[in-house]
Amino acid sequence: MVCMNDSKIDTNQIVTPWKVEGKIDYDRLVKEFGTQIITPELLDRIKKHANRLHPLLRLGYFFSHRDLDWILSMYENGHRFYLYTGRGPSGHVHLGHILPWVFTKYLQDTFNVNLLFQITDDEKFLYHDSKSMDEINKYTYENILDIIAIGFDPDKTKIIVDTKHMKHLYPIVIEVAKRMTFSTVRATFGFTSSTNIGMILFPAIQAAPCFLPSRIEGKPTPCLIPAAIDQDPYWRVTRDVAEKIGYYKPAQIHSKFLPGLGMQGKMSSSQPETAIFTTDTQEMVERKIMNAYTGGQPTIALQRSLGADADSCPVFWYLRYMFEDERRSDERYIRCKSGSLLCYECKYSLVESVKRYLKDLQRRREDAKDMIDRFMLED
Ligand code: TYM
Repeated sequence: MVCMNDSKIDTNQIVTPWKVEGKIDYDRLVKEFGTQIITPELLDRIKKHANRLHPLLRLGYFFSHRDLDWILSMYENGHRFYLYTGRGPSGHVHLGHILPWVFTKYLQDTFNVNLLFQITDDEKFLYHDSKSMDEINKYTYENILDIIAIGFDPDKTKIIVDTKHMKHLYPIVIEVAKRMTFSTVRATFGFTSSTNIGMILFPAIQAAPCFLPSRIEGKPTPCLIPAAIDQDPYWRVTRDVAEKIGYYKPAQIHSKFLPGLGMQGKMSSSQPETAIFTTDTQEMVERKIMNAYTGGQPTIALQRSLGADADSCPVFWYLRYMFEDERRSDERYIRCKSGSLLCYECKYSLVESVKRYLKDLQRRREDAKDMIDRFMLED
């Protein structure tokens, strides 16, 4: 089976909302976090409501969940849910961020539901010692262009910028914060006595939009959060308090991580040469991809005789998740493993695909400049 980072157990594996390190063993994460694997039966249930099963579901990129079955049952019984996702604007958006948003758009289109999109400018200010609010405001604006460029329905999507819209969240924040103890957030997030108190409150702020739909609708309203699994610690502490304050526990659908273009680790803004940003020029895209790590052999002769390792090759995975249909990707996998395909050929395919994708996205980012007001939550 084609399976990303099909790795041995790595005892150095770290997955927190701020740091992902080591080779990720997703089965182990599911056990440690106490989430559930998305089963074929669950995929069949989603398929009943969708024209098509999204490739990111079919390929197992979205692989885990909490209460997805429950939210589908609610929906089937006539209860509409809200989607909720977000972004911490510490830099430009990269392709890894884009994937959960593309998938969120698919969910919005499939179920015809509202979306709340939280921008945690406060989190990024509090977390990074060196970042000023001016710098974060600049990225908030830039990131909003990316969010709008994804193509969410403007009549069904509201962007919440924490420092701008806190009055809508604060009544919920204090309800949550009152029931979340320091010992819980310390154990969950690894806070210490030198963690600033803004960060200690912050989990209640990321929790608040889970319950905003209930306030907007005036009745308990289910909420589904699509995101990579790094955000799960927030939902664990949120789910613990939900029922105590009269709301449903938020449901989640978790993705894996898009790897960086280097040898290991997820795509991350802190390693710009191994990340592709939505604002990158065509030349930058080409340079980064041509310099990427691959699963190739040191020489062409060895590759022809031994084949290459597609499973650990980011170039293969970008093509599979973002640009190629499954049949074509399976063929690429077999040709790579057998040595009939060389790394530069895959790199060229990826360069062309990413350039085309970014050209289109960058045009939509420009168009987004005139649409910001339509997407913002009212002041
Ligand atoms: P942030 O800005 O770190 O990440 C935004 C979204 O991108 C996902 N993500 C990735 N997915 C795949 N591959 C990667 N390499 C990768 N890196 C990041 C994240 O899981 C996330 O879905 N605190 C949050 C902002 C937030 C939020 C939310 C996110 C507030 N409310 C609700 C998700 C859902 C943050 O800083 O995300």
